[in-house]
Amino acid sequence: MRPSVLATRATFADIADRLREHFDVEDNPSDTVWSPEELRRRLQGKQGVMSTGTERIDAALLDACPSLKAVCNVGVGYNNVDVAACTARGVLVTNTPDVLTETTADYGFALMMATARRIAESEHFLRAGGWTKPGIFDMFAGADVHGATLAILGMGRIGRAIARRGAAGFGMRVIYHNRSRLAPDVEAESGARYVDKATLLKEADHLVLVVPYSPASHHAIGAAELAQMKPGATLTNIARGGIVDDAALAEALRKGTIAAAGLDVFEGEPTVHPALLKLPNVVLTPHIGSASVKTRRAMAALTIDNLIAALGFGPSAGHPPTPVNPEVLAH
Ligand code: DGY
Repeated sequence: MRPSVLATRATFADIADRLREHFDVEDNPSDTVWSPEELRRRLQGKQGVMSTGTERIDAALLDACPSLKAVCNVGVGYNNVDVAACTARGVLVTNTPDVLTETTADYGFALMMATARRIAESEHFLRAGGWTKPGIFDMFAGADVHGATLAILGMGRIGRAIARRGAAGFGMRVIYHNRSRLAPDVEAESGARYVDKATLLKEADHLVLVVPYSPASHHAIGAAELAQMKPGATLTNIARGGIVDDAALAEALRKGTIAAAGLDVFEGEPTVHPALLKLPNVVLTPHIGSASVKTRRAMAALTIDNLIAALGFGPSAGHPPTPVNPEVLAH
């Protein structure tokens, strides 16, 4: 009997067709967001799932779906998956690192620039018919990016790619904070200098968050941290909702504690805190950091390579390219 897999989101048809060569596939062509109960129901009898950050894969779900052998998550982040619970049950987890690094770094940089230079706010003004007379000197005057201090919280692959852009392309002074300091050669290649978190907040002209979500990074930026930043500073979050306390950020933006924010990720997305939606000085986008066609195709293809190999098919049978808990493979 062919194994059965569930794809929780519609993906590029030609790439998804590769799954059908090996498996019976149930997919979600209308991209409906399934409740946890619906997900559990659809996973019955499935050996694999192609999941996204929206689906919570936890111990209770795994216990209710004992046929499940592989959770292949689309995205480099996998905080939606309880990896320890998967490992304990012999369920392989995979993600999609590397293929999205440069695209997501481009986006982080673009969002930081749009925020600093007030691009969204001025575009809304123009579309709304507000540009009725020649610009005055300070019309939508924002903050410079070139030569400014770029502060990066989280110095993994994407953080380092953003640092390189800032240092080499824009002559920025780049500082970073991370759980552990980079090796000297990696630090030099990134053009970034390690500082403690208080210094990072105090010296940032543009703070960019690229840290993975975990209980330890929950609300890493809240009212107390925002209060340490310069009033002219900007904050960009392309990491995960929950790293920033969105209510505290909205209040800081309203009061002018910092100048502006660019947010691609939110607590409770796709819902956005209503106070953020009312503010002019925040650029809001719907979690599209990795969304170039080329990269989204590469992410889909890598996820499918992982799923096919994890369930023992294809040229890399038994050796999925990017396992998160490879210890499961040893058994
Ligand atoms: C990732 O890769 O983690 C992106 O946020 C897409 O989910």
